[in-house]
This record gives sequence, structure tokens and C-alpha cells, in this order.
Amino acid sequence: MKVLIVGSGGREHAIATSVAKSAKVEKIYCAPGNAGIGQIAECVAIGAMEFDKLVAFAKEKAIDFVIVGMDDPLVGGLVDCMEEAGIRTFGPRKNAAVLEGSKAFSKDLMLKYKIPTAAYKNFDNAEEARTYLKEEANFPIVLKADGLALGKGVLICNTLDEALAGVDEIMCDKKFGDAGNRMVVEEFMTGREVSVLSFVDGKTIRIMTSAQDHKRAQDGDQGLNTGGMGTFSPSPFYTEEVDEFCKKYIYQATVDAMAAEGRPFKGVIFFGLMLTSNGPRVLEYNARFGDPEAQVVLPRMKNDIIEVMEACVDGTLDQIDLQFEDNAAVCVVLASDGYPVAYEKGFVIEGLDKFDAAEGYYCFHAGTKQSDKGIVTNGGRVLGVTAKGSNLKEARANAYAATEWVSFDNKYMRNDIGKAIDEA
Ligand code: AMP
Ligand code: GLY
Repeated sequence: MKVLIVGSGGREHAIATSVAKSAKVEKIYCAPGNAGIGQIAECVAIGAMEFDKLVAFAKEKAIDFVIVGMDDPLVGGLVDCMEEAGIRTFGPRKNAAVLEGSKAFSKDLMLKYKIPTAAYKNFDNAEEARTYLKEEANFPIVLKADGLALGKGVLICNTLDEALAGVDEIMCDKKFGDAGNRMVVEEFMTGREVSVLSFVDGKTIRIMTSAQDHKRAQDGDQGLNTGGMGTFSPSPFYTEEVDEFCKKYIYQATVDAMAAEGRPFKGVIFFGLMLTSNGPRVLEYNARFGDPEAQVVLPRMKNDIIEVMEACVDGTLDQIDLQFEDNAAVCVVLASDGYPVAYEKGFVIEGLDKFDAAEGYYCFHAGTKQSDKGIVTNGGRVLGVTAKGSNLKEARANAYAATEWVSFDNKYMRNDIGKAIDEA
């Protein structure tokens, strides 16, 4: 098979690494890709939102299977465009990707189908939102821009003043663009967060092993929200009891709800869960693998990823026995100092070859590019250093040891990824 992967981050590098292991695959292309992906795939300089060019490229190269990794092209309808051109594609169609593309939609879905989540109210008018906040809200309260906002459209407001400023930011100043045309105001919940990824074929759902992300920039979960500074898998907090609850009230219920709405979901549903004292609640849905969750989940998957993805497209996922290794993995993101605000890039990265022969170690590229000086930094999140171990403690020690193998001028990382496991 010839496979085209759409995206350019650490997630797509992890997907490409799994695809490269498939016996069915002869050639991998990635648009636009990055320097690391370029070592196992042929990168093509087409942006993830250039749908016409992507379809034309897929036809020209007679691509057999397309995998869309990123949220923007999924929400924009790239899968529909590929399918119209007769190209088999893994990922939800536009009418299903709305599960991630509109938080107001997903909240209404959960309410209608009684899927446990935080209480909420949707607004498309700033004045009505202000009145509600003044007259009815309890604090802290959570404001969410409805649409995609690079994971940054969520504001936790401790006071009315903060919340009113938040309404201005989201709905009036349009800090997150059109994503702020609508806004969800949501009850604040407390608890531990877990990410659960799943494969879905429209009717059947197969749950992957659990993971946990560290979203804040600094140690101790301080500082600004980022795309994710590191992950570990499995989460020791995802107990059998939690799993049972989610299987009963959340996972299949979500798939059935989407089908009942005439929006059958095929692809990956990412359940962002909060384990509250009243049981698990859905914080958010994503319509794709997490980044950097994919970097710890996929290396532990035993199945041929192409077989699983084809089963999702074909509606035969019920015949797949999804299996994960009985071990653990930790991913530490090496970022450019200053991320997520301002940072320099273009620094040469040394030591990448140390991963070549290291079994159980991976260096997933997020923001890198090939230059005449060698591979250089090209983004806020630069690399995701992942290591496996027989348990989380060992995986964490291995991952941190491997972060020392690579160097670049403004290298920054958190030093406490997976530290929560010490408390489990
Ligand atoms: P989201 O993009 O919806 O995952 O939100 C980003 C982060 O904001 C989550 O990972 C949580 O840490 C936090 N968050 C979102 N919704 C809530 C909520 N209702 N209560 C508390 N924290 C929340
Ligand atoms: N790591 C969180 C996400 O991919 O949305």
C-alpha cells in the first residue's frame, strides 16, 4: 500500500512510525511532515489545509490510504474531499468531526444522550453571557470558545471580573478568531485528568490504553497552558472501576449518539476525562489522536495499525482484538525556551542518531526541519523523547536519561513528567 499521512507534528511522527512497521505498507508520504518524519516517509510540501492539492497529489501518486492526523483538516472536511475522489481515508467526516470542532455541539450531544459531563450553558451573544455570569454563575467558572483554538480557548475564571474580561476576550476581541462566535460557560470540576483514545468504525468502539498529559509549561503544573509538555501511559488512576463506568455510560453511548444524530463517527475519538469525586466526567472530545498522547500509546500497541484503521473505515472493527504491551511509556517534550509565548528557532540539534539503535526509545520530531546545517529546531515543541519500561517508574527514568542524548541551544523541558505516578 501507498499511504499518505496529513500533519507535521510529533503525533504524525508517531503514527508514521507505527505505519512503517506494517507489513502491508510499501511507501509512506507525509504532507507537510517534518525532518524526523522525513527519515521514514517522503515529505511533500503541501499544507494540511490545502485540500485541492492534497487530493490531486493522492490521485497522482495512486495513494491507497490516507490518514488525517490533525484537527483542522478533519473539522474542515478533508476526509469528505478524499472520499469524493474515491480515496480510502481514515478519520471522521466533517459532520462527525464537529464532535471536536464545536464544544457547544458536544455539550448538547452529551446532555441529550445523558453522557456525564459538567453542567453548562451555550451563548452566541456576549450580553446574554454577561447577564448570566452576573446573576446565576458560581465561581470558579469555565469559559470555552466554541471552535478550535489550538487547545488555548479555555479560560478558568475565579471571579466575576475575570469572567467578564473572558467574555470580552473570547466573544468581542475575538482572541481565538471565529472560534469565539459562540461560547460555552461550564461548571468548574476538580479531579485528576485522564486521556483515553479509541478506534471507532461508526458503530463499534475499541478503547486503547490510557494516558495522561501535562498541559502546563512549568513544573508542578504551573505556568501557561501548552499543547502538552509530556505524557505517560498507562495512567494508574484509570482503574478497573473507572473503566467499567466509562464503558457503561460514556464510550459506546457517545458512538451511538453520533450514529443516532446521522453523524456516524469513524476514526479516533479522544475522551478527555476528569475523575471527579462523583465519578468520571467528559471534559472534552477530540476527533483525533492526542499529541503527545499518541507518542506513548502507539509504541505500546501490538496490532498492525493499518489493519485497525482499515477496519474502522470498513466497519469491521468488531473483528479486531486490540492489544497493548503490558509495560509503560513516558514522553518528555523538549521545547524551545519561552514556549508557548515567544522563542527562537533554527538551532542545530545534536545527538539524534543515538536513538537509531536504542530499542524501546523513540525521538519523535514535532517542530524540526532539515537545513544545510543539519536538522534544526523549527517550533515551540521540538522533540518528544519517549521511552518504554517495565513499569512507569522505569519508563520515566529511561525517558529522562534519553533527554540527555540530544542537545540544542535553548532546550527546555519539564522535570516532573509522570511524577504524579509516585502518588498513585
Ligand atoms: P479542554 O481544551 O476542554 O480539554 O480544556 C483544557 C483544560 O482546561 C483541561 O485539560 C482542564 O485542565 C481544564 N478544564 C476544562 N474544562 C474544565 C472544567 N469544566 N473544570 C475544570 N477544568 C476544566
Ligand atoms: N494533548 C492534548 C491534545 O492533543 O489535545
